[in-house]
Amino acid sequence: MPSIENYLHGYDPKEQGRLYEQARFLEPRVFDGVDFSSHNHVLEVGCGVGAQTEILLRRFPNLRVTGIDISPAQIARAEHHFESLLEIKNRCRFLAGDAAKLLPSPNAPFDGAYLCWILEHVPRPLELLRNLRQVLSLGSKICVAEVLNSTLFVHPHSPALTRYWGAYNALQKSLGGDPWVGAKLGDLLSRAGFSDVQVRPQPILHDCRDPGGREGTLLYWRDLLLSASENLLDRALVQKTLIDELEIELDHLRKDPNAVFFYAFMKAEARS
Ligand SMILES: C[S@@+](CC[C@H](N)C(=O)[O-])C[C@H]1O[C@@H](n2cnc3c(N)ncnc32)[C@H](O)[C@@H]1O
Repeated sequence: MPSIENYLHGYDPKEQGRLYEQARFLEPRVFDGVDFSSHNHVLEVGCGVGAQTEILLRRFPNLRVTGIDISPAQIARAEHHFESLLEIKNRCRFLAGDAAKLLPSPNAPFDGAYLCWILEHVPRPLELLRNLRQVLSLGSKICVAEVLNSTLFVHPHSPALTRYWGAYNALQKSLGGDPWVGAKLGDLLSRAGFSDVQVRPQPILHDCRDPGGREGTLLYWRDLLLSASENLLDRALVQKTLIDELEIELDHLRKDPNAVFFYAFMKAEARS
């Protein structure tokens, strides 16, 4: 069973709550160009606590979604979350299981697949995508959003962020994940047998022209960065003093009227 030891962000309730906030905060960018309006049944791979599931169901009122996640704790939280969402809860169901081990299905029950921030945590993403294709009907749409962590830039330079980010990415790599998988989506989807593969960067740039947006993004990033702090401290990959310095430097960035923030994640779409 996955545990905080082998999953970068861990599965505690605070982290589960962060996933709902993250999905809502990033929705305009993550869902820009995502269209399942003519689809019936999407498999959401690595659905976590159902944060993106809720958005999918609200955006596409005729869609059914099956969410699969390797963590029973995430699935339990997703099911609990949907108990009160009376208008949409009947259109989804959740399964605990390893998406890398999906078995071919003779009737290929899904006509779409949605993956957001999951391939970065998977040791063999190509295998997962190959197996996923076997449960999709021919011509199904797959939409993927993934990290490309080498794109992070802030001005003024933050030495603590640079050191912490290096440790964060090294930890993700050592856990079998890939903090740069976004750049490989075109390659992975093509090699997994998908066609009509399209990949594009989704840039996030903030400067003095949009101080409110910049502050929101920097606050979101502080939470994202700190979501790995317990794991990094446990493994002695960072010291508490570095985390304190990081928080101070992020605070300075938020208060600097000339601060610049840039990050680009990657989005891909293809057909089975
Ligand atoms: C960063 S969370 C993203 C969750 C959700 N997609 C979202 O955006 O809110 C990554 C999720 O992938 C799940 N995961 C990692 N490896 C998996 C695998 N092999 N099969 C299914 N889920 C997996 C983790 O348990 C975690 O819930």
